[in-house]
Amino acid sequence: MALRRSHSCSNFRIFRILTATYVLCAKVAAGLSNGLALTPPMGYNTWNAFHDEINETLIYQAADELVETGLAAAGYVYLVIDDGWANSQRNGSNPIEANATRFPSGIRAVADYVHAKGLKLGIYSDSGTLTCARYTASLGYEAIDAAQFAAWDVDLLKYDNCFSVPPSNQTVRSRYEAMSNALNATGRPILFSMCEWGVSSPWEYGDQVGNTWRTTQDISLAISATWDSVMNNLEGTKGLARFGGPGGWNDADMLEVGWPGGGLLSDVEQRAHFALWAILKSPLIFGNDLRNMTRQTLNILKSPEVIAINQDPLGIPGDLVWKQGPQEIYAAPLAGGARAVVLFNRHQHLDPNFPSQNITVWWGSIGLPANVTCSVRDLYGRQELGNFTASFTAPILAHGAGALKITPLRKQANGDLWRPWSCDPSIGLYCDGEQGDELFNA
Ligand SMILES: *[C@@H]1O[C@H](CO)[C@@H](O)[C@H](O)[C@H]1NC(C)=O
Ligand SMILES: *[C@@H]1O[C@H](CO)[C@@H](O)[C@H](O)[C@H]1NC(C)=O
Ligand SMILES: *[C@@H]1O[C@H](CO)[C@@H](O)[C@H](O)[C@H]1NC(C)=O
Ligand SMILES: *[C@@H]1O[C@H](CO)[C@@H](O)[C@H](O)[C@H]1NC(C)=O
Ligand SMILES: *[C@@H]1O[C@H](CO)[C@@H](O)[C@H](O)[C@H]1NC(C)=O
Ligand SMILES: *[C@@H]1O[C@H](CO)[C@@H](O)[C@H](O)[C@H]1NC(C)=O
Ligand SMILES: *[C@@H]1O[C@H](CO)[C@@H](O)[C@H](O)[C@H]1NC(C)=O
Ligand SMILES: *[C@@H]1O[C@H](CO)[C@@H](O)[C@H](O)[C@H]1NC(C)=O
Ligand SMILES: *[C@@H]1O[C@H](CO)[C@@H](O)[C@H](O)[C@H]1NC(C)=O
Repeated sequence: MALRRSHSCSNFRIFRILTATYVLCAKVAAGLSNGLALTPPMGYNTWNAFHDEINETLIYQAADELVETGLAAAGYVYLVIDDGWANSQRNGSNPIEANATRFPSGIRAVADYVHAKGLKLGIYSDSGTLTCARYTASLGYEAIDAAQFAAWDVDLLKYDNCFSVPPSNQTVRSRYEAMSNALNATGRPILFSMCEWGVSSPWEYGDQVGNTWRTTQDISLAISATWDSVMNNLEGTKGLARFGGPGGWNDADMLEVGWPGGGLLSDVEQRAHFALWAILKSPLIFGNDLRNMTRQTLNILKSPEVIAINQDPLGIPGDLVWKQGPQEIYAAPLAGGARAVVLFNRHQHLDPNFPSQNITVWWGSIGLPANVTCSVRDLYGRQELGNFTASFTAPILAHGAGALKITPLRKQANGDLWRPWSCDPSIGLYCDGEQGDELFNA
């Protein structure tokens, strides 16, 4: 748990969001030292919309559409081919091969096309004897498969956990380490996306093995369970903020924004889902049908200021800092001393007596000096909401969230001009995690 009463964060940097109850820590080196994922990866994955019914035409189209829709420019540069690209069986001891009916040009040609568009190519395999959809998997063939991926100029590997026991007696960790080491040995930096569903607490060792690690079971695409599944994955990722950071991130699984066509989650729910994933610094990987996105879906996915909190260069994942009944506040420090804040109302949306609730964020609960004045910015609306002292209150719809940037301001000695505080321990505004334990007693 990142939220803990302990007065120290041994092996972690103590981070910035400090109250009597909540301490947010962050690892100094959070992931593989392959130079990748210094901010959470963003991109597109084929699984949600197409399952294993994929082919190179679809990937070429997806590459075109990522560029044409402006999503690539917004940051979604990883185009990930999920399960279904490989043959159903390995040919002897040869490396994994693409299905020549589905990918007649071969993966290297697809990679070249994707790279020419300024994008990066992701591919998929599994740490067991078969992938989840029963195609060739890599257990026991890690080295030759990794070499194959590198020879194809692949940039990311999503590595699943199906068909692993029995017959294998290897631990989850050892199976993922085997592929991590194999990728490293190729000499090509390949982002390693661990998808073992959180079963081996990968956040505890992910810094040595992966660039991202799933924290939970798959997010559900079932009509009846979509929102519940988003909440389930939030619960499974909450409290793990301190394990994430540049190079390695908690992965709450793919986005359901726009799935399908935005029909299963309301607009309010999709905005809450996206803001929460952004502040947790989960990878932002969407999976709807790129060929026909609604304007509403595009607007959410392209929200520049919400994306900016996910991609903030400081790279400190946000976490829950306050909760009362259905009201929750998530916060993360941003480079320069401001705070990203998500005000979230979990209340049952069918209750007509509670269409919205006023949620108040106190500066003291997000690691700012309690009485300073701050500017408050609405990140979806992209507008200043005003300057507020000590706290800010907003009505939040049930299942909705407000995404805010809260920037402390100070009056300059020579007049009435205000400007943002920079990090300044003399006023209790810590930004670099170097403060001593005494602050916890405040
Ligand atoms: C490729 O896959 C997509 C999605 O399943 C499908 O709509 C399309 O017909 C397929 N194209 C070919 C050439 O098989
Ligand atoms: C390749 O894909 C085609 C079309 O989906 C399928 O009929 C065929 O069985 C696959 N081949 C192999 C070797 O898996
Ligand atoms: C299997 O690999 C061998 C070479 O190792 C090759 O001669 C043969 O054509 C391959 N079979 C198939 C079905 O691809
Ligand atoms: C797995 O472990 C069991 C018990 O130690 C052993 O009997 C079995 O042979 C092992 N299986 C494999 C595939 O190593
Ligand atoms: C392999 O691992 C070493 C040690 O962690 C690291 O310095 C190097 O950048 C890695 N190389 C690749 C290609 O991932
Ligand atoms: C997108 O296209 C697919 C395939 O034609 C269709 O099944 C789906 O309903 C469409 N979605 C929207 C939002 O139009
Ligand atoms: C929220 O606060 C405003 C302003 O004080 C008030 O008018 C409104 O009734 C409150 N809403 C709820 C749901 O409590
Ligand atoms: C905030 O300011 C008020 C009024 O000046 C003062 O009474 C209160 O003690 C201050 N609180 C803190 C935490 O500094
Ligand atoms: C907040 O304060 C800043 C600095 O004085 C000022 O520029 C800005 O106009 C103020 N915002 C509002 C909404 O009053």
